[in-house]
Amino acid sequence: MSLSQPHGGKLVNRIDLELDYSHITKEVELDNFALSDLELIAIGAFSPITGFLGEKDYTSVVESMKLASGEVWSIPITLPVTEEKAGELKIGDEVKLIQNGVVYGVLQVTEKYVPNKQREAEKVYQTTDLEHPGVKKLFERPNTYLAGPITLVNRPEKTFSEFHLDPVETREQFEKRGWKRVVGFQTRNPVHRAHEYIQKSALEIVDGLFLNPLVGETKSDDIAAEVRMESYQVLLKKYYPENRVFLAVFPAAMRYAGPREAIFHAMVRKNYGCTHFIVGRDHAGVGDYYGTYDAQLIFSNFTEDELGITPLFFEHSFYCKKCGNMGSAKTCPHGKEDHVILSGTKVREMLRNGVTPPPEFSRPEVVEVLIRGMKEKVQS
Ligand code: ADX
Repeated sequence: MSLSQPHGGKLVNRIDLELDYSHITKEVELDNFALSDLELIAIGAFSPITGFLGEKDYTSVVESMKLASGEVWSIPITLPVTEEKAGELKIGDEVKLIQNGVVYGVLQVTEKYVPNKQREAEKVYQTTDLEHPGVKKLFERPNTYLAGPITLVNRPEKTFSEFHLDPVETREQFEKRGWKRVVGFQTRNPVHRAHEYIQKSALEIVDGLFLNPLVGETKSDDIAAEVRMESYQVLLKKYYPENRVFLAVFPAAMRYAGPREAIFHAMVRKNYGCTHFIVGRDHAGVGDYYGTYDAQLIFSNFTEDELGITPLFFEHSFYCKKCGNMGSAKTCPHGKEDHVILSGTKVREMLRNGVTPPPEFSRPEVVEVLIRGMKEKVQS
């Protein structure tokens, strides 16, 4: 047994900080979404992808959750530009990818195409409702996609630098610890007791837990990454064995694509070296767009070999007052009246009002950080 092979067999590395791009005159301004995609492609987190997807790959991903080469891939990685900008560029051009005057990357333009966004929304998000934050974002971005291989020539400022590791580095860390079986955990939330329960249940059967919170763009009412990062550290210090957990950030934007995003999250964690990946209740979901376990069911579309990482599925977990511990419908015989269940919206509302969620829902040390974080946000 060893760590997972990268998706597609080899970790992509498209970083060249020495690349001379002084001869390139054309440029494309990146939004935060595209800048984080650029970085993630370059560091190999999106292996085997080496650039923004061309039409053949794009259509294949949208229609059948696979790249044209047959590798599993469920979320299109695209570079939207305005029709006007696309008109300025020719196939074969080299283009600087910039944000606020800083050059981060170079794109070799191999294609430009107009996607069918309606179809992309239907297939990837299972809805065309503009209330859905992922769909809203999809339609807000411009309507022509540029494609081609990229090179990262300048690292975007590393948020949470101590915890900002590339896949090649997380693999080194896992190896250094002697871990052969590593379970990845995606989250865009504070770690509450239910998260802790499923993480620790998974950890019982593997060597290490890779806590990999997403810290890229999220919707505005999600709890800020700075606050979450502080809460993770407080929690780990007090309740997790240091030699069994590794915390690093996942600098990606959240798509809220539920089942499709669960597959994507699993493939990316495979690139970071994980052998297992946790998928719980309504993974990467939002509102009522997806069924509670749709993000688990979608994995049955692929063979074990195609995935190359083992998903670990968990039922909706909660604290049961009668059992006196955490459990799920699989392990607890009691009724709803004995279960401590709070929605994310409800918890955020409590925190905003300085109300402490019960310790059965969230560790007091975590709550303290969250309430302080909410207060600071209001004051700033
Ligand atoms: S997500 O958008 O990043 O998936 P969240 O941070 O809430 O949201 O969830 C992280 C992981 O924990 C996901 O795999 C999710 O399915 C799982 N999860 C969250 N809450 C529960 C719960 N109460 N019971 C079981 N799994 C859960």
